[in-house]
Amino acid sequence: MVPIVEVSNIHTFYGSSHILHGVSLTLNAGEIISLLGRNGMGKTTLLKSIMGLNPPKKGSVTFFGQNMTNSPVQKIAQQGIAFVPEHRGIFPNLSVLENLIMAAAPGVNGKEEWNLNRILDTFPQLQARLNHMGNQLSGGEQQMASIARALMTNPRVLLLDEVTEGLAPLVCQNIWSVIQSIKETGIAALIVDKDINALLHLTDQNVIIEKGKVVYEGNSQALKHQPDILHRYLGL
Ligand SMILES: Nc1ncnc2c1ncn2[C@@H]1O[C@H](COP(=O)(O)OP(=O)(O)OP(=O)(O)O)[C@@H](O)[C@H]1O
Ligand SMILES: [Mg+2]
Repeated sequence: MVPIVEVSNIHTFYGSSHILHGVSLTLNAGEIISLLGRNGMGKTTLLKSIMGLNPPKKGSVTFFGQNMTNSPVQKIAQQGIAFVPEHRGIFPNLSVLENLIMAAAPGVNGKEEWNLNRILDTFPQLQARLNHMGNQLSGGEQQMASIARALMTNPRVLLLDEVTEGLAPLVCQNIWSVIQSIKETGIAALIVDKDINALLHLTDQNVIIEKGKVVYEGNSQALKHQPDILHRYLGL
């Protein structure tokens, strides 16, 4: 089976700062992988490298076997890759409805499974907020709108950065259960978050990054039983 995303030995820089040092990672169909690691270790940089926002100088990123390493972000998005950035990807001065409609696009195979009705079934909280501006939403509503916007593109892969950062516990629970239901629809994901318990419950594989290198890879059952690894790399 051809992997959905294959990152091979990438090196990514900001100017002359060498941030990722030969990172490799494979995301298969329907899988969720967590990217773990302390602050500043390169998690966001890896997501940006995959999305083409900060392409690697060396190594390759392929989607469905197609090398897209130096492709523009738009081309990568057209492959069905959707990025939900840390500070949430909605336009503050557009209404929720406008934000959603603007993003709407058929998927790679012409599929339009995620339309407005389905989005509002998945995120009922957004129904009453459709005419509110992006900047009038609570943090949780912004995050939901941001994930909803990504789903409106009918993606095959979601890249989610700090998905529950700064949100109240109940909202976090809500977001995790939405992500679980998205997973059940067959969308694959790479997720960065600090809530290790929620991640271990949800993910298939877990990748720990330390100073721009992959230092651990394992499934959730394995990682749960490795307190030394959790302590060493995540300070838990
Ligand atoms: N735009 C930038 N210009 C220069 N250096 C940057 C830039 N963005 C990040 N860095 C540096 O790259 C390294 C990796 O940052 P990155 O944001 O990928 O880490 P992270 O694992 O996502 O951390 P966090 O948990 O804080 O979000 C850090 O040393 C950071 O200071
Ligand atoms: Mg980050």
